[in-house]
Amino acid sequence: MKPEDDMSDETAMESLHHEGRTFDPSPEFAAQANASADLYAAAQADRLGFWAKQARELISWETDFTDTLDWSDPPFAKWFVGGRLNVAYNCLDRHVEAGNGDRVAIHFEGEPGDTRSLTYAELTAEVSRAANALASLGVGQGDRVAIYLPMIPEAAISMLACARLGAAHSVVFGGFSSDALHSRIIDAEARVVITADGGYRRGKPSSLKPAVDDALAKGDTPVEKVLVVKRTGEDVDMVDGRDLWWDDVVAEQPAEHRWESFDAENPLFILYTSGTTGKPKGILHTSGGYLVQNAFAMQTVFDLKPESDVFWCTADVGWVTGHSYIVYGPMAMGATQIMYEGTPDTPHRGRWWEIIAKHGVTTFYSSPTALRTAMKWGDDIPAEHDLSSLRLLGSVGEPINPEAWMWYRRVIGADRCPVVDTWWQTETGAHMIAPLPGAMATKPGSSQRALPGIVVDVVDDSGKPVDRNTAGYLVITEPWPAMLRGIYGDPQRFKDTYWSRFENMYFAGDGARYDEDGDIWFLGRVDDVMNVSGHRLSTTEIESALVSHEAVAEAAVVGAEDETSGQAVVAFVILRGGIEETEGTVEELRAHVGREIGPIAKPKRIHIVADLPKTRSGKIMRRLLKDVAEHRKVGDATTLADASVMDVISASVAAEK
Ligand code: WT7
Repeated sequence: MKPEDDMSDETAMESLHHEGRTFDPSPEFAAQANASADLYAAAQADRLGFWAKQARELISWETDFTDTLDWSDPPFAKWFVGGRLNVAYNCLDRHVEAGNGDRVAIHFEGEPGDTRSLTYAELTAEVSRAANALASLGVGQGDRVAIYLPMIPEAAISMLACARLGAAHSVVFGGFSSDALHSRIIDAEARVVITADGGYRRGKPSSLKPAVDDALAKGDTPVEKVLVVKRTGEDVDMVDGRDLWWDDVVAEQPAEHRWESFDAENPLFILYTSGTTGKPKGILHTSGGYLVQNAFAMQTVFDLKPESDVFWCTADVGWVTGHSYIVYGPMAMGATQIMYEGTPDTPHRGRWWEIIAKHGVTTFYSSPTALRTAMKWGDDIPAEHDLSSLRLLGSVGEPINPEAWMWYRRVIGADRCPVVDTWWQTETGAHMIAPLPGAMATKPGSSQRALPGIVVDVVDDSGKPVDRNTAGYLVITEPWPAMLRGIYGDPQRFKDTYWSRFENMYFAGDGARYDEDGDIWFLGRVDDVMNVSGHRLSTTEIESALVSHEAVAEAAVVGAEDETSGQAVVAFVILRGGIEETEGTVEELRAHVGREIGPIAKPKRIHIVADLPKTRSGKIMRRLLKDVAEHRKVGDATTLADASVMDVISASVAAEK
């Protein structure tokens, strides 16, 4: 880490914020809770024995494992060594075999108002058909399939069909551009792409298939077949011999598919996430450990009662939250859940609350950005809907400020539902730090403590544990079952990114502190990664996108504090010599980033400047730009090669207003 990227004074100040309020679970909630505080003691006494027990209780193995963990070649872990299982069997067939085939697995709510409910028996048949179809296209163990779909049941069906065949999926969020899709297809060497004509967003069809066509037209991809789900009915081009309608290929397949078991370490999926360089990392997850830890989180953090709960995670399956808490975690446990296609305000701002009332949702999992937005829209909107079925609320994606936490508890949870703030990452695969809702009092704004069987610490620059109320770095000090097994195709980058900052510890990239009770508070990223509405974006990746535009000479991007989205992307751009800024320049650059990466990466503000603040060695000091973007007095600029640069930038940004 470079000194200019260290936590700012402001972060350190904020870390002194003291939260005195805590909320005990109601006696009724505590009495029925799956998890008690005994779990911490059990895991501490015999950590690996604890995970072995969870693995055998929560998951069905075709062949039992012989060793719980092989850590002989760190940081490359093998969990549940010798164990064999089929992930899709665990998520589907076994619930049918147990007599729960008629239980609804997915209540789908399309944005335009169409609905569809699939029972576990129906979903098992659909996934079997899809697996047969993929097998007929030559997909099998060792292959990769790219999935670029809207939030429709076929997304989960496709993922589970891959898992059933032992093939790894690489889901690409539908909001990513054809360029982003292209590079991900190439990096993962995907042979098949599953997509749709489009999906519904903000009240109208939003196309996907044209982006796949563009991506494949860029060339050099190993893609042989494209399966296209019909969702919107919009016209699409179908390439002869390459593109097939899902309905034609899947519907004619038998509804039975005999699964086979795969090694616990068989790759389950690759999911790309932004790092500190321009190139996204393909985070690799495998089967056994990932499934065990997610099932455990469902049971303990979400206190899931599969017979009676209705679970709803509002994430998109294109992110890890959707992988772990729409597909694998809930389905491994046989949960009934909601899958909603669209935006929270289509056709009206009460859409989410209306869905909760309609289906009697008991457990709701969402992001601080969504909650802050709902807060802004006003309490009267949720008040119009019957939310009395709710019994537990969860938050994920970014630090939740105590105000939003309190609003969530009071307005959505009627002061009755525990709120669990869950900290984890694409890399960790499953919840790592979160309260156990029936076993302890919850505290607004804090993720509180590592789950049983998970060991973390907050350390200083030299790797020593910090004192309470002192900002430091969050590290994970013992391997965990759902940990990433690497970066696809790049073992060295895996070591460098996560395991080289501190010896024998996983460096998460987050600042954190302990409070006086020993509870953990998150202070945001300490690297060049931004968090916008709970979505991870790389400053460098957006800078590369900007300089790829013909008008741009140099660009620097920072994440500036934003009341609603947590952070917002703010760019400082130097135009090429001879190019004058016109009225359309900023909008054109924003659109260009949208095309290069996706709409989510578009800068909220772009400042055209004459120069950028650089150290003598030529490194851009983003810390100073962040000061400008957050409308603060610019900090210490003495290490700049040219100290006057910041005065010029501040003056020019001030003049824009
Ligand atoms: C980064 C991981 C985990 C799924 C969604 C995001 C931030 C996530 C919290 C939380 C404070 C959080 C961290 C982390 N983050 N949850 N509860 N409190 N920060 O996954 O895209 O891999 O991003 O999101 O900075 O490192 P991701």
